[in-house]
Amino acid sequence: MKTKLNSILTFSAIAVFTLALVAFTAPQDEWVVPAKYKSMENEYAGEDEDEIGEDLFNQHCKSCHGKEGYGDGTKAKELETEMHDLTSAKVQGQTDGELYYKAIIGRDEMPNFEKKIRDDEDRWMVINYLRALAK
Ligand code: HEC
Repeated sequence: MKTKLNSILTFSAIAVFTLALVAFTAPQDEWVVPAKYKSMENEYAGEDEDEIGEDLFNQHCKSCHGKEGYGDGTKAKELETEMHDLTSAKVQGQTDGELYYKAIIGRDEMPNFEKKIRDDEDRWMVINYLRALAK
């Protein structure tokens, strides 16, 4: 019985150690967007007449992503996570739903904006502004 417990403990210790090692050395994980979001329809595509998207971007996103979305905001230097240029093909090649998920739900150093940008139409205006930045 005792040896069984010992081997469980040893195994657990090794597992924890391995996980920690992987967490600290792995390159940035691919950001997997749930299918539900990926295929989400942007019913406001192309719209931003009142510049709501631009205003919200300047208010909430510019500090990290920079005025043009290049990733050169004033706070960018403090971040450990690599940010992609929002105007790059890598980012623009994603669906509106993918960008929505990443921009609104976020992960780690990319903040969650569900509370700060509550209105769904406003959220899509921000996504439309990300598209406009690349033009
Ligand atoms: C505190 C700094 C910070 C703020 C503020 C911020 N972001 Fe980010 N953003 C990041 C970081 C860091 C990443 C990379 C996250 C990752 O890959 O894990 C990121 C990633 C993204 C991505 C995914 C790009 C890709 O590589 O596919 C989008 C889209 C995005 N941000 C949009 C926004 C929008 C829109 C706002 C404002 C509503 C915003 N971000 C505000 C730091 C920030």
